[in-house]
Amino acid sequence: MVQESAILRFHSLLSSAFIEGTLVKLTFGKPTPQSQEPDLKNVYVRPVNLKSGPHFTFVYRYATRDVTKNFPPAIALETARSLLGTAFCDAHLFTPLQSAQLEIDAEGKARLRQKVAAHAPTSRSERHDREKRRPVPLTTGWLHRLGVTNAEGRPREGMAAKLRQIQKFAEILDSLLKDAGLLHDTRSEPGSRTPRKPLTVVDMGSGKGYLTFAAAGMLRDRAHVVGVEDRQELVTLCNEVAREEKLDSLNFIQGNIATATWAEDSRCDVLIALHACDTATDDALARGIAAGAKLLVVSPCCQKELRPLMQPPAILGDALLHGIFLERQAEFVTDALRAQLLEWAGYRTKVFEFVSTEHTARNVMIAGIKDRPPQQQGRLERLCAFAQFYGVSTQALARHLGVDLASGVTT
Ligand SMILES: C[S@@+](CC[C@H](N)C(=O)[O-])C[C@H]1O[C@@H](n2cnc3c(N)ncnc32)[C@H](O)[C@@H]1O
Repeated sequence: MVQESAILRFHSLLSSAFIEGTLVKLTFGKPTPQSQEPDLKNVYVRPVNLKSGPHFTFVYRYATRDVTKNFPPAIALETARSLLGTAFCDAHLFTPLQSAQLEIDAEGKARLRQKVAAHAPTSRSERHDREKRRPVPLTTGWLHRLGVTNAEGRPREGMAAKLRQIQKFAEILDSLLKDAGLLHDTRSEPGSRTPRKPLTVVDMGSGKGYLTFAAAGMLRDRAHVVGVEDRQELVTLCNEVAREEKLDSLNFIQGNIATATWAEDSRCDVLIALHACDTATDDALARGIAAGAKLLVVSPCCQKELRPLMQPPAILGDALLHGIFLERQAEFVTDALRAQLLEWAGYRTKVFEFVSTEHTARNVMIAGIKDRPPQQQGRLERLCAFAQFYGVSTQALARHLGVDLASGVTT
């Protein structure tokens, strides 16, 4: 295996293990001659559950002492990647299904060895236990009816990545709903006899409904789930499957994200929009904010709007002559601006990779939980300064929220 592809493949395994939470253990050894910390002998990494959510503990073993640090998944992943080749020549990764060892020799050549783990589940009861832990069991009817799995509950050809995305989305949604205080085990407020009012969850640009069904299946009678989709044939198909599967609190409507109406007064507690193209993501976020949604979950794609509008400072000129850098920079500016606008609108915002790039390139998720007073002036000034640095004076979500990025004035 050639050097670059071995390292890239190992990076990708690390990404799956950290982001999908399958890491059992990761060890680094054999310090490199160029290491900045020659007395750092090993680093050991393990998952740990903290009050603030899943983290990873890094134990840095020096010649005479140990230093322990905890990182959330995205930072843990970057930290682990940065140790490879710079501090250590050897890394060994263990997940429930496999082990992988990357070795970099004195000439910088990398070699990757992978083994199926001895403890990979092989017996019927182990497979049964694993199946019970999946957020969406593989035998779920709608997975079959929508063509994700076959009659035996195995992914159809070409659908394995989609299935992983659905499972991961369900896991993340569950954790975000809990973080937002929206998911409770009972339908009553503690000490109250009144049943909690079902949530309204709106999935904008629901497409074939994979994620809408996942949300409805998870929440059952705790939520009305609505899919809003432009294409009538997908709306018809999804409504048929929902009725066949007796998911009575799930329905799909044909309409445009910017203008559609649903439920009473287009109420929305949870707004979802995954891969709604370009500024459709901004239209969806704006609808959620206007409705006072407690939780917003989007995964943007095709961030086209700002690319022709950006006028980056001269120092970036030569770098951004390369189309791929300009495209990535435009994506970054668009999504970073969205995250800052959400903070300004009163949402505690998280940005993370939600499935590994091994499964899809469109993997950035932006999630906002409404838990703070909106419209803090300092934040507005900083986000406008950020936009102005890139010569950006207008952007779809900013327009929806009445923010003039050029002057910092709001209407
Ligand atoms: C790439 S698909 C994603 C589907 C789904 N959210 C998922 O992640 O599996 C985008 C969907 O959004 C729909 N869409 C895009 N812009 C829309 C708009 N402005 N109003 C309604 N639907 C829209 C498209 O028709 C398409 O079905």
